[in-house]
Amino acid sequence: MPHCTTTTRLLFAKKKGLVNNFNSEVCAMGFYDLNCFKNLDIKKLAICNPEKSVIKNALELNYLTFFDIDGFKKKKKKSFDHTIVNITKSRKETFFYIALAFFITKIEGMIIITGDKKLGIDFYLRKIRSITNLIFFSKSHGKISFIEKKKFIPEEIKNWKNYGKYRKICSNFYTLPGCFSEKKIDEGSNLLAKSFSNKLYGNVVDLGAGWGYLSAKALENNNKIKQISLVESNLNSIKCAKINVPSCKAKFYWKDIEEECLSIKNCDHVIMNPPFHKGKEFIHSLILVFLKTAKEILSKKGTLWMVHNKQLIYENSINELFPNYKYIDISENYKIIKAIKNN
Ligand SMILES: C[S@@+](CC[C@H](N)C(=O)[O-])C[C@H]1O[C@@H](n2cnc3c(N)ncnc32)[C@H](O)[C@@H]1O
Repeated sequence: MPHCTTTTRLLFAKKKGLVNNFNSEVCAMGFYDLNCFKNLDIKKLAICNPEKSVIKNALELNYLTFFDIDGFKKKKKKSFDHTIVNITKSRKETFFYIALAFFITKIEGMIIITGDKKLGIDFYLRKIRSITNLIFFSKSHGKISFIEKKKFIPEEIKNWKNYGKYRKICSNFYTLPGCFSEKKIDEGSNLLAKSFSNKLYGNVVDLGAGWGYLSAKALENNNKIKQISLVESNLNSIKCAKINVPSCKAKFYWKDIEEECLSIKNCDHVIMNPPFHKGKEFIHSLILVFLKTAKEILSKKGTLWMVHNKQLIYENSINELFPNYKYIDISENYKIIKAIKNN
């Protein structure tokens, strides 16, 4: 099988001897596919990532993680010989990881920053180059760069650490970098919240709850809700949701529904704005997982409320699992579906 672009760049670094001793203690941030570390012969690898499936995979491979499988913080290892940062879709998350790398890498160790052109690696390297020395190589539609850790950390880089803090975006909603719609409320979710206003009751499940916007609105505008369960795979999003939905009716589940079953059964409503991307890839099977899970946990006459991007063609999948569906609102960019399970 051909290597992914990140693997190719890391193997290139190893082969060229750009990291003088990979066989040491290394921290890796922003990596979702851990296969890229297979052939690097790293002695001890720590994975920093908020996704449940990545943490689970890391533990299976005997790597260190900063959180355990129940989301509890582990005692942190303070310093590493080298740190590798893979840039992510979120600028703030990437700058935060880079700052963290400067703090946790031992003096004379390497800070390695890599990423695809498409995700903006050139932007980060230009920015860092204006602050400190680095060398870089172009490889596999992206770049890999090396910075030797010095005692002095530039002030601007120190400030990027603040991006890792909770940020208030509006009306008491807080987000962390890397969460879905970290800067502002999503237009599609906003439309969905308006559609289910005053129509929800009993037990409600928010699938892929993010930082909790749909649940907060559901509780605000539907006083017949008895309980709302927020299910989400990203730990940072769940942490924000606990702040943004401070109701005793709310229950929080840090779960990846692609890999884990839910104990929830017979709920009256499922509300969801399902994902269609994993990292940079469009993945159609994700919508199927969300629809199947919704069907499993709904009661016989339960209702699904869902928003999706107008450009995405989901009708066949929806029709297969929820033939009793209709569009109840269509805006310039989004469609709102209401579907009764009915069997
Ligand atoms: C489009 S966002 C919607 C977030 C939130 N409901 C809102 O409206 O702002 C989809 C959410 O699903 C989460 N997600 C993606 N894959 C998941 C999975 N396999 N299991 C659970 N949650 C997942 C993502 O982390 C993201 O927060």
